[in-house]
Amino acid sequence: MLDKNKKILILGAKGMLATDLAKIFSFYNLTLWDFDDIDIIDKNQVDSKIGDLKPDIILNCAAFTNVDACEEEVDKATMVNGLAVGYLTDIARKIGAIFVQISTDYVFDGKNKKGYIENSQEFWPSSIYGASKLLGEKALAKLDKYYLVRTSWLYGRHGKNFVDTISRLGREKKELKVINDQFGKPTYTVDLARQILYILNNDLPFGIYHITNETKKGGITWYEFAKKICKLQKLKVKVRPCSTAEYPLPAKRPPYSSLINTKLPKTRNWQKALKEYIKSINN
Ligand SMILES: NC(=O)c1ccc[n+]([C@@H]2O[C@H](COP(=O)([O-])OP(=O)(O)OC[C@H]3O[C@@H](n4cnc5c(N)ncnc54)[C@H](OP(=O)(O)O)[C@@H]3O)[C@@H](O)[C@H]2O)c1
Repeated sequence: MLDKNKKILILGAKGMLATDLAKIFSFYNLTLWDFDDIDIIDKNQVDSKIGDLKPDIILNCAAFTNVDACEEEVDKATMVNGLAVGYLTDIARKIGAIFVQISTDYVFDGKNKKGYIENSQEFWPSSIYGASKLLGEKALAKLDKYYLVRTSWLYGRHGKNFVDTISRLGREKKELKVINDQFGKPTYTVDLARQILYILNNDLPFGIYHITNETKKGGITWYEFAKKICKLQKLKVKVRPCSTAEYPLPAKRPPYSSLINTKLPKTRNWQKALKEYIKSINN
C-alpha cells in the first residue's frame, strides 16, 4: 500500500487527467503545479523547484496535447513533450523520486490491426505530437524508477474532449459525419487515474503499462463511439460513417492504434464508463 505520507507532485495539474488524478489521490500529501507554478521546459526551474520540494513521486501530466497545433508549433511540441521529460527524469534520478510519465498510442505506426502490447517496438509516429511524445518516452531510458503509462482517446470532466464535442454538435445539427476507418480505445480519465493508483499501491514492477477502457479486440471507430454517445444522450441526430479522406485534419492519425494491456487487471468496459461520464455531465 502506498504510504499516506508520501509526497506526490502532480504536474500539468489544471489539465483533464491531472484534475481527476488529484481527486483519486486526495488522501495523499499532494502538491499540484501547473504552468503558473513551473514551466517544465525551463531546466533551471525544474531543478530548483522540484529539487527543493523533493517529492517521492512525480506524476507528469503536463504536455502540449493539441495534436493539430503541434504540426505548426514543432519546437514547442518537441520542448514540452520531449526535452522537458528529459529534465524531469534528471531531477527524479537526482532526488530518488519515482517518475510516472503519461504517453499515447500515437507513438506507434498505426498499421497493426491487432494493436500494440507494452513492449511493442513498432514505433513510427505519423504526427509531430506522436514523435514528440516518443522523444519523451526515450528520455525515460536514463531512469530505473519509472512507470510509462500509455493511454488513448481520453475524455473527462476537466478538458476538451470528443464526448463533449459530439454531444454539442448532436444538439446543434441534424446530421453528423464521423470517421469510421480509425480504430482505437476510449478512456475515461477517472478509470485511468484509478489504475495509476493501483500500480503505485501495489508496488508493481517499474516499466511500461497500457491503460484504456476495454473494447472488443482491435478497438472501436470514432463513428461507433459517436453513435453510442448520441444514443446515451438521447439525441435525434443522424450519425453517418465517413472515411479519413473525407475529413482532412492537419495531423495524420494512425488508422489502428489499439493499446493492448497484458499486465494490469482489466479496466471496465468502454460503454459502462461512457454511461457514467454522460450521467455525470448531465447532472
Ligand atoms: N487527451 C487525450 O486524448 C490523450 C490521449 C493519450 C495520451 N494523452 C496524454 O495524457 C496526458 C494528459 O493529457 P490531458 O489531455 O489531460 O492534458 P491537458 O488537459 O492538455 O493538460 C495539460 C496541462 O499541462 C499544462 N502545460 C502545458 N505546457 C506546460 C509547461 N511547459 N509547463 C507546465 N505545464 C504545462 C497545460 O497548461 P496550459 O493549458 O496552460 O497549456 C495543461 O494544464 C498528456 O501527457 C497527454 O499527452 C492524452
